[in-house]
Amino acid sequence: MDFYQVIHSRRAIRQYRPDPVPREVLQRILDAANWAPSGMNRQQWYFIVVSGEKKRQLGESYARIAETYTARWDDAERRKQFVEFARDYGGAPVVIVALTDASDEPGTRKMNLESVSAAFENLLLAACAEGLGSCWMTGPLQDEASIRRILDIAPDKELVAVTPIGYPAISPPPPPRLDPDLKTKITWLE
Ligand SMILES: Cc1cc2nc3c(=O)[nH]c(=O)nc-3n(C[C@H](O)[C@H](O)[C@H](O)COP(=O)(O)O)c2cc1C
Repeated sequence: MDFYQVIHSRRAIRQYRPDPVPREVLQRILDAANWAPSGMNRQQWYFIVVSGEKKRQLGESYARIAETYTARWDDAERRKQFVEFARDYGGAPVVIVALTDASDEPGTRKMNLESVSAAFENLLLAACAEGLGSCWMTGPLQDEASIRRILDIAPDKELVAVTPIGYPAISPPPPPRLDPDLKTKITWLE
């Protein structure tokens, strides 16, 4: 796939096939993340690649969030579907958790978050180029205490995002751009 094709075809995937993802493919997409730009070249990103029992536990944590989140939905079937989606991360065989260095200094914290976000986007694009689906998620972090406990994350690391990784079971249409001509997005000064 050509570079711009990858950019345009990456979608948030919420339904996966159970097929395992080879370790070397995961290594390649994590290597792409590791080549992102970073504040002060600190390369302040860390990834936990979770499958098996620990992934099951992460799913239980996310399902509890989903139960609370959907408690007021009238449509019981929709509620059930969302909770089931959360419980196994849409059937993805792998979940990747992205972390950065924690900091109490606002400027450093911002720089660290920006750096890991750049790396995470690299990871998502590389996943797409490999034919894998992903979905940048922050919802699961609402139960940060459980994630820290399950994955034994040290207090000097900040949790930033989570993504399921696996081969997509669906191909959602692209959400239209709010401003496709970039009229409100760009200011040209000449
Ligand atoms: C910071 C951030 C947080 C997100 N959190 C969630 C989330 O918790 N759950 C989810 O299903 N999708 C989440 N998404 C995915 C967005 O919903 C998705 O990117 C958006 O709807 C556009 O769709 P696309 O990625 O297919 O272009 C998040 C995306 C970003 C960038």
